[in-house]
Amino acid sequence: MGKYNRQVVGLDLGSSKISAVVGEVTSEGELEIIGIGSRSSKGIRKGVIVDINSTVAAIVKVIEDAEIMAGTAIDAVYVGLGGSLVDSQTTEVSVELAAKEVTPRDIQQVIDMARSQTQSDRYETLHVIPIEYRLDEETGLASPIGRRGTKLGVWAQVISASVPAIDTLIKVLDQAKLEVQEIIAQPLASARAVLTPEERDLGVVLLDIGGGMSEIIVYGGGTVRHISSLAVGGNHITHDLAVGLRAPVAEAERIKKQYGRALQSLIGAEETIDVQGLGAKESQPTPRKFIGEIIECRVEEIFALALHRIQQQDLYGGLSAGVVITGGASVMAGMARAAETVFELPVRLGLPAQISGLTDLVNIPMYATAVGLALYGRDRLLEVEAGHSRHSSGGMYQRMAAWLQRFF
Ligand SMILES: Nc1ncnc2c1ncn2[C@@H]1O[C@H](COP(=O)(O)OP(=O)(O)OP(=O)(O)O)[C@@H](O)[C@H]1O
Ligand SMILES: [Mg+2]
Repeated sequence: MGKYNRQVVGLDLGSSKISAVVGEVTSEGELEIIGIGSRSSKGIRKGVIVDINSTVAAIVKVIEDAEIMAGTAIDAVYVGLGGSLVDSQTTEVSVELAAKEVTPRDIQQVIDMARSQTQSDRYETLHVIPIEYRLDEETGLASPIGRRGTKLGVWAQVISASVPAIDTLIKVLDQAKLEVQEIIAQPLASARAVLTPEERDLGVVLLDIGGGMSEIIVYGGGTVRHISSLAVGGNHITHDLAVGLRAPVAEAERIKKQYGRALQSLIGAEETIDVQGLGAKESQPTPRKFIGEIIECRVEEIFALALHRIQQQDLYGGLSAGVVITGGASVMAGMARAAETVFELPVRLGLPAQISGLTDLVNIPMYATAVGLALYGRDRLLEVEAGHSRHSSGGMYQRMAAWLQRFF
């Protein structure tokens, strides 16, 4: 198979930046990063595309940049959808077994049923993730294939997205001359890139703190338990600084990135920095403690809201592997410690992993979603290839059986 056919592209449409990560799946099944494109986005707010034209224009540029770096053409992408447009719920359905033994076809049937049961006019199902299977009276099964029984049930997490949002997304990508290979809930993509299987098994929450919003995904027993989002992110910290310091937003953003600390305790008592005020000709020395106070307040609020959401879902007790933070706003010094104080759990910074190639360019929390989308693409490609080889050997077996029947 040629190089082009093993290419996967993840496209993250964020409220701060649009980025594309181009990967090539190696013969060992690894994702080798060969290109990246990233530009600031203006047409997206909290995951919602509010300006189609400027979003299309930005996507076209990002894809061009990525094509030049990768030296390939891009015509299809794995794209993320996030924020309030994504909904998750659990459902339980069951089917009568045709034969006495569970086959992969029965599993597919029960998953399809979970998918269709939760589908509505307003929401379309993106993912059905089995939590556990039930075979007659036996519950808690991870894989019932080959077991004997009469009724197969599944308890699954169903993740869906708003139909108009999906329509807009497809329209935007169509205008950018890109085929949508799959739409993936953004938190699932970020989790794919930064969480370890052990963390998913033990129970963990991943917080992707972006620009206009923060996304929450909770895992336990190896599967997704909850997905939701908060309408606060790094841009709110910038806004608070702009108001508190009476400074332009661009100056507030510079100060946040250059001098920002999530905890005041990390700042020396006497330190000052020069801040360019609104309409002021000369910059003013401003105590860093004051800047820290503004930031700490908002950071604490983001983590407290996330904790509250997790407690509401009764999932706090299951977080044995603690908390992982990622996304552009997670890189500020002191963020993990600030989260530890609020959650009273161990916290680590999540960087995109399980990749090779140009890892230096994408191994930062800002690219967790885009890398995760490309990793999803890699998983799908390998699934399809494995399916094909099973299929073709099955085909060969059938052809041989037919040939033998003719002669014997
Ligand atoms: N060095 C830094 N220190 C502090 N904050 C930072 C730093 N770098 C980026 N940020 C903040 O991260 C945020 C953007 O994060 P990210 O790129 O993950 O967002 P996004 O994916 O585009 O948006 P969203 O996920 O909200 O749709 C912005 O608020 C930006 O100011
Ligand atoms: Mg994001």
